[in-house]
Amino acid sequence: MSGKKVQTIGVLTSGGDAPGMNAAIRSVTRTALNRGIRVKGVYKGFQGLMDSSMQDLSIRSVSNILHEGGTTLFTARCPEFISDAGVEKGMQNCKAAGIDGLVVCGGDGSFRGARDLSLKGIPCIGIPCTIDNDISSSEYTIGFDTALRTAMDCIDRLRDTSQSHDRCSVVEVMGRHCGDIAIHAGIACGALTVLVPELKFDLERDIIKKMNNTMTNGKHHFIIIVAEGVTHLDSNFMNAHELAAYIEKETGVESRATVLGHIQRGGTPSPRDRILAAHMGHYSVELLEKGIGNRLVAVQDGKIVDFDILEGLSMKKTVDSDLVRVCNEISI
Ligand code: F6P
Repeated sequence: MSGKKVQTIGVLTSGGDAPGMNAAIRSVTRTALNRGIRVKGVYKGFQGLMDSSMQDLSIRSVSNILHEGGTTLFTARCPEFISDAGVEKGMQNCKAAGIDGLVVCGGDGSFRGARDLSLKGIPCIGIPCTIDNDISSSEYTIGFDTALRTAMDCIDRLRDTSQSHDRCSVVEVMGRHCGDIAIHAGIACGALTVLVPELKFDLERDIIKKMNNTMTNGKHHFIIIVAEGVTHLDSNFMNAHELAAYIEKETGVESRATVLGHIQRGGTPSPRDRILAAHMGHYSVELLEKGIGNRLVAVQDGKIVDFDILEGLSMKKTVDSDLVRVCNEISI
């Protein structure tokens, strides 16, 4: 805690955009202004600190953004900020702009930057914003619910056409190293099998035999969901199109692959993402107002809490094995 009252809060969005970032920017801005604290929006994540690219935000400048996907502050990944010289420059530029507290909306990489800047004397608060739901300290990240909904809508459409043609649809979803979008979409969309990077799988057992068994029960169309972490991280593993060709060869079921890609990042945020963003934005300003920095805001047991950034980053995220069991047992 520092004795000096925070006067100007900066807010930035960093890393991949996530639906709900605008709701967080709006909440930070309005909470701070309401308490007599000035707000500067920093453009393009930490890059904006390197270039001093920032602008004062007012109550009205954050009007009509609550329902928009993407981020009105733009976002970037900033390699310069990884070096000590970059962090030093960021700190100097914050000081020059009068920024004495910063809210960083992003993922793990962005939080490392927030920690480094906190250690240089600019108190930072991290808000978990990523569609991947891969922040270990938080049960839930802003953007995940919307991305999951988008993936579900797309997969429902794929089901219509797969069912009409008695085909197998192989769908690759995003998530980087994390299988959460895949597992949740798998349950929501009735996938036969979900492949995620966190769990071992066997193609013969988990796809080919399972499809053959299911066909004897009278089912002739299939959804297989594969998390991008499986196809991208293991260079020996096939991509979604190769997997579809393999399934067709082994089962005789005509198969098609769809990579959902960046479509999962866009769109109007869900109520859950908007509400969480509003809550976390408000909470972040309250921490800075109390002179507290170097914290990550998180959801634990459904409640908003905060952790030391390093402590939060060192936590381990595990797959929800209950959900995986549900997914496997009812997908027959
Ligand atoms: O972290 C969000 C995410 O969309 C991941 O799911 C994906 O692996 C990555 O970002 C894609 O990054 P880029 O926008 O640089 O292609």
